[in-house]
Amino acid sequence: MKIACIGGGPAGLYFAISMKLRDPAHEIEIFERNARGVTFGWGVVFSDLTVDNITRNDPVSAAAITGELAHWDDIDVHIKGETITSGGHGFIGIGRKRLLEILQDRASDLGVALHFEAECDPADAKWQGYDLVIASDGLNSRFRNATAEAFGVDTDVRLNKFIWLGTNKAFDAFTFAFEETEHGWIWAHAYRFAPDCSTFIVECSEEVWRAFGFAEMEQAETIAVCERLFAKYLDGHSLMSNAAHLRGSAAWLNFPRIKCERWASGNVILLGDAAHTAHFSIGSGTKLALEDAIKLAEVLNRDGLSLAAALDEYQAERNLEVLKLQNSARNSTEWFEALDRYLHFEPLQFAYSLLTRSQRISHENLRLRDREWLEGVERWFWKRATAGQSNKTAPPMFAPLKLREMEVANRITVSPMAMYSAADGVPNDFHFVHYGERALGGAGLLFTEMTCVSPEGRISPGCTGLWNAEQVAAWTRIVDFVHANSAAKICLQLGHSGAKGSTKLGWEGNDVPLDDGNWPVMAASDVAWSPANQVPRAMTRADMDAVRDEFVAAVRLGIDCGFDMVELHAAHGYLLSSFITPLQNRRTDEYGGSLENRLRYPLEVFAAMRAAWPSDKPMSVRISATDWAGDDGVTPDEAVEIGEAFAREGADLIDVSAGQTWAEQQPVYGRMFQTPFSDKVRNEGRLATMAVGNIYEPDHANSILAAGRADLVALARPHLVDPMWTLRAAAQLDYRDIHIPPQYLNGMSQLARNLKREAEMAAALRA
Ligand SMILES: Cc1cc2nc3c(=O)[nH]c(=O)nc-3n(C[C@H](O)[C@H](O)[C@H](O)COP(=O)(O)OP(=O)(O)OC[C@H]3O[C@@H](n4cnc5c(N)ncnc54)[C@H](O)[C@@H]3O)c2cc1C
Ligand SMILES: Cc1cc2nc3c(=O)[nH]c(=O)nc-3n(C[C@H](O)[C@H](O)[C@H](O)COP(=O)(O)O)c2cc1C
Repeated sequence: MKIACIGGGPAGLYFAISMKLRDPAHEIEIFERNARGVTFGWGVVFSDLTVDNITRNDPVSAAAITGELAHWDDIDVHIKGETITSGGHGFIGIGRKRLLEILQDRASDLGVALHFEAECDPADAKWQGYDLVIASDGLNSRFRNATAEAFGVDTDVRLNKFIWLGTNKAFDAFTFAFEETEHGWIWAHAYRFAPDCSTFIVECSEEVWRAFGFAEMEQAETIAVCERLFAKYLDGHSLMSNAAHLRGSAAWLNFPRIKCERWASGNVILLGDAAHTAHFSIGSGTKLALEDAIKLAEVLNRDGLSLAAALDEYQAERNLEVLKLQNSARNSTEWFEALDRYLHFEPLQFAYSLLTRSQRISHENLRLRDREWLEGVERWFWKRATAGQSNKTAPPMFAPLKLREMEVANRITVSPMAMYSAADGVPNDFHFVHYGERALGGAGLLFTEMTCVSPEGRISPGCTGLWNAEQVAAWTRIVDFVHANSAAKICLQLGHSGAKGSTKLGWEGNDVPLDDGNWPVMAASDVAWSPANQVPRAMTRADMDAVRDEFVAAVRLGIDCGFDMVELHAAHGYLLSSFITPLQNRRTDEYGGSLENRLRYPLEVFAAMRAAWPSDKPMSVRISATDWAGDDGVTPDEAVEIGEAFAREGADLIDVSAGQTWAEQQPVYGRMFQTPFSDKVRNEGRLATMAVGNIYEPDHANSILAAGRADLVALARPHLVDPMWTLRAAAQLDYRDIHIPPQYLNGMSQLARNLKREAEMAAALRA
């Protein structure tokens, strides 16, 4: 094949090498606009895995690269006068310039033609003379942008400003230095890539950048300011730029996250940064470029594959890896953009939050890296959780939490789940066994399903309710069992279905109206949930009074049942949620329009419930922190305001769920996918929160809690199939100080022993 590679960065060079290794007959030319030896940037970091990949692909260049890698293990986080050091991170780095020299030499040895100072123009007709034109021309790729639509380019320019500098100070650890200045916070990411050379990236928000006047400074002045700000880390060394030709503030960048729907069009194929970028804070751009290069060379030389099939295969095989990394990179980028949220943390928790920001490193990963440090974090967590009473070194999920006078024994909760199994709102033997079993399973707090305040407020004929004595008796039996046989507390979730009412049992069809016997429904406005559902009556003030009073009456009955806590369900598109979301609320009176107006009625109900509920017992509210509708619906920023408003009325915990507020929602699912909303509400609103949504491993729970992203962690579906989820986690983590029903003690010890043995065998196999 006759191939032109546009750009002699890691992607273009390594692709040429990988092609030649597979078939020396390929004719490959690389066109690089810069002169030999001229490049931007300083060092790049790799992982052991990348080294394995390049060693398998080309042992010769890999040997030259690994011979020059700088290694370091520790991460130092400097903040508020403290240095938090954690070990075991195992980084390797190399100078970008040195990497390119090695790859250039190797490419030349293999017969690749290298042309330097060769600026390429995509409009030039000569490119038609090549079988393939590899657009390895970096993130600003001219060859991609010339036909951006053909590639489906999606660029997201991120908020913070950064400048990539170098220094001769040799940092022994990967260093994050956060400095509070007269203009706000500014920080550096620094790491050594050669014996006497380190990368030093300075980052700050656009606001701080403007306040410093960086926008008006020449590079030399910028560098002088950065040297002054970070003097205590530089030990007299200066900062250096190798983009000195850039005038004014041009050396400062905003990171562009790039995605492309298609990686090939005509004879042009995107490779490396031209196809996708991953924020520098997770240091994976070069790794992705090298791995793309290996894969493209491999599919192009795979027997029996047509060119079109090979290109499809290239994108299909690389896309998943790229998406995973871009996802982690997005989390990491957002962490730095939302830095203000975490600055109130104590330095240890701040460092933990920083280390786990991308969600690629979890609590147990940190234990493997540096057990002693992680145990220090656990001791710190327990100390705070117990107001200094406990010095325990144990997973955060088992630490107690006090809300008013109620103390939950641990941080795991059984999330509210409608069972659709009651008749006339009365819980029966199914509910008795269901709740009883989950209480025995070790969770600290159990939520009831949405229990409705009136017959018309039910979602389905199978919903539980709390409006009469029969229901009180049935709930009392359940609550008494929970209290007598477990350490769990039990919270009554109260709700009204609104426009989503009068529908079938969950498993007969979600939100599908009954075949017959429908009852009239009401909501904030006369907006039907879907074309198939009834149009609700827009509530009059008299309706609002009546429903508020039903909530209060149910709270009073909840006291009779002995519940420990009450939650108001104001999420998921039900009655109170229909006031909060602008997608359902079309009112023009004081209950519609602004967020303040839309919150007015839900807050009134909450305040009335709070007044009826004992002041020593806690209350929570479940909210949908986003409508998954962009700016048309409730946004995460508004969720903070919503949380704050309920807290002012006496909510002790904000139960942060999301969505289900309109039928056309576009949620973004994934592991722990709603936790970022809990993080935001908790740390911007300084409120206690509960996170929920696809949290299923003890490791998820511990990471969320230790990083201060929530105070409680709720699991719904995992508890449906495993009522003993918390006890199983305790066995897995070898934690014994948990209430185990005495009848089950034998089983727990055996499970713990077996799990321990299996873990030891797995570790021995790995070794
Ligand atoms: C601040 C910062 C820090 C980073 N840190 C790391 C890190 O620690 N680890 C890591 O792995 N990655 C890091 N990266 C990312 C990394 O630099 C890129 O992901 C990687 O270089 C991508 O390789 P590439 O070959 O696709 O593109 P590039 O390295 O950008 O190479 C593209 C080449 O094409 C040339 N070119 C462009 N247009 C033309 C044209 N029209 N004609 C001729 N030549 C052209 C350019 O001169 C350049 O040499 C960082 C990036 C930034 C911005
Ligand atoms: C069968 C079922 C019933 C549910 N019923 C309720 C409910 O009554 N009240 C409520 O607030 N959430 C309800 N939810 C939502 C869950 O509490 C939880 O927020 C959601 O399932 C995400 O958590 P998970 O990924 O751990 O399942 C229900 C979920 C399921 C699966």
